[in-house]
Amino acid sequence: MDHKEVGRYWNGNAEAWTELARAGYDEYRDYLNTPAFFEMLPDVDGLLGLDIGCGEGHNTRLLAGRGAKVIAVDISTVFVQHAQLLERGQPLGINYQVASAVELPFCDSNFDFATGFMSFMDIAETDCVLTEAYRVLKPGGFLQFSITHPCYDTPHRRNLRDENGLTYAYEVGDYFRNLDGVITEWLFSAAPPQVKEGLPKFKVPRFTRTLSQWLNLLIEVGFIIERIEEPCPSDETVHECPRIQDTQVVAYFLHVLASKPGKSVA
Ligand SMILES: C[S@@+](CC[C@H](N)C(=O)[O-])C[C@H]1O[C@@H](n2cnc3c(N)ncnc32)[C@H](O)[C@@H]1O
Repeated sequence: MDHKEVGRYWNGNAEAWTELARAGYDEYRDYLNTPAFFEMLPDVDGLLGLDIGCGEGHNTRLLAGRGAKVIAVDISTVFVQHAQLLERGQPLGINYQVASAVELPFCDSNFDFATGFMSFMDIAETDCVLTEAYRVLKPGGFLQFSITHPCYDTPHRRNLRDENGLTYAYEVGDYFRNLDGVITEWLFSAAPPQVKEGLPKFKVPRFTRTLSQWLNLLIEVGFIIERIEEPCPSDETVHECPRIQDTQVVAYFLHVLASKPGKSVA
């Protein structure tokens, strides 16, 4: 499966995804991933950034709120239309474009930084995504991205819960088998049945790579790995949002900060 076919699946997901995410049902994003991402992000005030795989633009807007001038791309026209509509109503100066991460329509060394919020693991051509991000960064620029954790988002995975419904362990298997576009169907688990009713399930093509494949690709492309995080919520956060208790048991997500060699822009 190539990026164009993947894009068609995401375009089909975009209406329901936008509706549910904006209604607050993407709890892993809102309570864990996004706060952790922004905690690690270097100062972007006054920098020119590219957000790759921006979806409906929630995190892009937070980036712009940090003072960055942001261009954002997504392969799905429907997602980009939703992001543009919000931008028109509440402008933050974001320029949204329909484009694929594997063939970015920008010249070399154009951006101070690039971000990918939970999008890179959804793209078949993992090597091209990193090569393209590297190409469009200025020397000294940085890339920060979050993905599902390669060690726990494995072809076989099972959440083991106790009699109270609390996760106590996570079973993984088939780690070394790279999935290439296996379709999984789901909706955000936080959305109640009456909200989900009538909505088509997301159809998400799954691609799995091992941890060493991800890190070695970054190194082969030329990036310097600056920092790695595996977000784990505090007890207070889990108290506020009990459904993400499972993310205290294993690392569901991996966040990477890497730089292109050169004098730092940050
Ligand atoms: C899990 S969603 C994340 C969206 C958004 N970054 C967020 O944090 O809410 C993954 C996104 O990657 C996009 N995507 C998938 N393949 C892509 C590609 N080749 N180029 C650009 N975006 C892509 C999808 O359309 C989707 O918006």
